Amino acid sequence: MNRRDVIKSCSMFAVGTMFNLINFEDVLASDSDKGSYKVYKKTLLVKEDGTPLKESDIQPYTAFLFFYPFKSTPCYIINTGHEVKPVEVKLKDGKSYKFAGGIGSKKSIVAYSAICPHQWSYPTKDFSLLNYYSPTEKSETTGKSGVIQCCAHISVFDPTNGGTVLEGPAEFPLAAVVLQEENGNLYAVGILGKDQFNEFFDLYKSDMIEQFGSLEKAKEELDKTVVMEVGKHVKEQIKC
Ligand code: FES
Repeated sequence: MNRRDVIKSCSMFAVGTMFNLINFEDVLASDSDKGSYKVYKKTLLVKEDGTPLKESDIQPYTAFLFFYPFKSTPCYIINTGHEVKPVEVKLKDGKSYKFAGGIGSKKSIVAYSAICPHQWSYPTKDFSLLNYYSPTEKSETTGKSGVIQCCAHISVFDPTNGGTVLEGPAEFPLAAVVLQEENGNLYAVGILGKDQFNEFFDLYKSDMIEQFGSLEKAKEELDKTVVMEVGKHVKEQIKC
């Protein structure tokens, strides 16, 4: 199996029609202070029993998986355990966007698309090469901790710094999920940064159709999305 096959077999969901693109033609978003980000359906984060997810449900240093903005596109939500400050995320082409930082009482909760911006590896039901490493867990290949690392070609991203690339072939940061907290409930409302949805759906079109019945169904947006332990969805998290 070649690398592309490996990545492809890693595939999974999502697609979408872009809703209400604000400002940019194809990317950037900044929020919180009402900058620009791609607005998608406002989606309530819920637990597996269907009740709203609360900040206290997100234990520190653990990644949880949910799907947003489409029923097929996976994301990770992480409580980093400490304040994640706003940061200007710079891209190689000189553009930049503002990442608003974490939310919650400690401003420690962040969420990112779990589609690798290098060649679109993502957590499937069988395995995931793109995984979160807690601060006490060291990557064997890079020696890094507290990062999101993709073992397809070893790209490393910093969840405490807007998803920026720390090393590897990836040229774009992980796209961030714009989160809002209202009355103790958590909502996903948009995507900030260079999303990979078009590439993802192009590459995994047949997988999406097989899994969801059609691309249109894979691109459905949700009113609610279940936040679960990664192991509830992925059989094997491959770390390196
Ligand atoms: S797909 Fe190549 S590093 Fe993730």
